[in-house]
Amino acid sequence: MLFKDGKFADFIFASIEQVVGKDYKKHAVAIEVGAGMGRFSFTLVNNFKKVILIEPAKAFAKVLKQQFNKKHVLVAKTTVENYFAKRKVPKNSIFFGFHLLHHLTKAQRKKLFSLISNSKSSAIFVDPNPWNPLLLVQPFFNRDMAFKQEMQYLKITKANLAKELSLCGLEVKNHETLCLLPPFLTKRLLSNKSWQNELIAFEKVRKFLPFLGSYHFFYCRPIEKA
Ligand SMILES: C[S@@+](CC[C@H](N)C(=O)[O-])C[C@H]1O[C@@H](n2cnc3c(N)ncnc32)[C@H](O)[C@@H]1O
Repeated sequence: MLFKDGKFADFIFASIEQVVGKDYKKHAVAIEVGAGMGRFSFTLVNNFKKVILIEPAKAFAKVLKQQFNKKHVLVAKTTVENYFAKRKVPKNSIFFGFHLLHHLTKAQRKKLFSLISNSKSSAIFVDPNPWNPLLLVQPFFNRDMAFKQEMQYLKITKANLAKELSLCGLEVKNHETLCLLPPFLTKRLLSNKSWQNELIAFEKVRKFLPFLGSYHFFYCRPIEKA
């Protein structure tokens, strides 16, 4: 689905900021892995001085180039593994991955996490919340979703991912759920300005309604050696 504006992306980032604060925006470079058609790229493009959008699917990369045709945005039509095969990660970078981790194999995740850790970068990953029962029915109604692949998100629990990350030298600084109403309803309500602040405020009850979050996010940083 083509996203015409960044309202949903801004909402997701505002919810993340309730937990992690705004300091993550101080990184010099934002690298989004698997940017798709740019659903979440709007906020990055508007808040970072340099943005690298990595997307291997030709059709999606074409949309990204059209949508974010700006001097400070670079669209790379390749996988993250290929892009950094012969390149160094820019200093002071932060990686982002939305709806990405469960589409990668464990070996691919290991490569990505090691790249982030070795380059002393940070990362924010947002994946579907494995504890939200409503999400289980999604692939039955969405023809774009491949059932077997989508179900992999059930394995991306906090415990499993923290273990994978720590084996690569990364620690989870923050982990929380977000987007407490289903995304389709959130998007609809966000189109009405008077609902925007209410929706953000509602995110604050995440601790009491852990099963309601449509997504969960991981803010990761290299493990600090004592
Ligand atoms: C489910 S889509 C999510 C797209 C977008 N982030 C969003 O949330 O709308 C996952 C994306 O990751 C991309 N992808 C898969 N493997 C990748 C890899 N190794 N490196 C970079 N991107 C990859 C796919 O092409 C796809 O566009």
